[in-house]
Amino acid sequence: MSQIQDRFTMPMPDDFHAHLRQGAGLSAYVRGHAGQFGRVLLMPNTLPPVSDAARLEAYREEVTRALVALPEAERFEPLFTFKILPGMRGAEVEASARAGAVAGKYYPAGATTNAADGPHSFDEVEEALNAMEAQGLVLCIHGEDPEAPILERECAFLPRVERLLTRHPRLRVVLEHLSDARSVHFVETGPENLAATITAHHLLFTIDDMIGNSMNPHLYCKPVLKFARDRDALRAAVLSGSRKFFFGSDSAPHPREKKECGAAASGVYSSPSALPALVELFDSLGSLDSLIPFMTEHGAAFYGLPRTSRTVTLERGPWKVPKLIDGVVPMCAGRTLEWRVARN
Ligand code: DOR
Ligand code: ZN
Repeated sequence: MSQIQDRFTMPMPDDFHAHLRQGAGLSAYVRGHAGQFGRVLLMPNTLPPVSDAARLEAYREEVTRALVALPEAERFEPLFTFKILPGMRGAEVEASARAGAVAGKYYPAGATTNAADGPHSFDEVEEALNAMEAQGLVLCIHGEDPEAPILERECAFLPRVERLLTRHPRLRVVLEHLSDARSVHFVETGPENLAATITAHHLLFTIDDMIGNSMNPHLYCKPVLKFARDRDALRAAVLSGSRKFFFGSDSAPHPREKKECGAAASGVYSSPSALPALVELFDSLGSLDSLIPFMTEHGAAFYGLPRTSRTVTLERGPWKVPKLIDGVVPMCAGRTLEWRVARN
């Protein structure tokens, strides 16, 4: 790959963590992934949440309506999750699995956007976790302790994950959107059934990009961006080729007015620019060879999905990321990237 200078074709990436929202937003936000990603795992923190089989079916219909409005070649396959709520019964998990869910998402109460209804501990959802383990569903975790100081929240949550893994040795667990060098180490040294997603923004930016000189609310997300050593540990995890790490954009659109205000919502709308921005980064690191399996193989293998048969072509050439897309400021807005997705 590294000898290919100006144009190359790669398997179409999967995105194992994205927020497409609901309603009018959804029909716009599907365009962010269109033509760039083959499969997208949809997070369930919609309003109302995707928390049972009926809601999942309704959400699938809504997502499908949005996708069929795209040109056929640009459509992606949506993968569904359900939100794990306190006291959830095993039978509800089984019904969501029958409805096609591949994973359940654990949001600690109050940890992030639309998570006020989440559990306070794994004990509150023990029956659901047992059912997920039995059904072979993946547990996706927003791993932050909202009681801890903001920069320590992810690390403070790790002991709970350790206990969970001991109690559920067959449950496949994904720690979502890693942001801290200590969690990278935790995942690297953890059991086979533990993996993690990494976003483009945590690979590209640090807390100084967000609040170092002036405040950029468009880089404010949960977990918040950390230090250069953390970003570098995340890059090293990708460069290592470890199959425990795979791409999940955590693309999380919020309308501009919800970001540029006195109480900015958390989330980076990264899907439109994540692929070219990561190609630019890993090209500059001389390692497109490690980016490609990170974005196209490791996640599918962990989830037990077939390798993708679709491809996408990248070409070197300036691409100015729009300043606003469908009312949302995307990641790298206004910046000129060195790579772009070749559109037919
Ligand atoms: O920054 C974030 N935004 N982190 C999350 O975990 C949720 C997301 C959202 O839904 O906006
Ligand atoms: Zn998310």
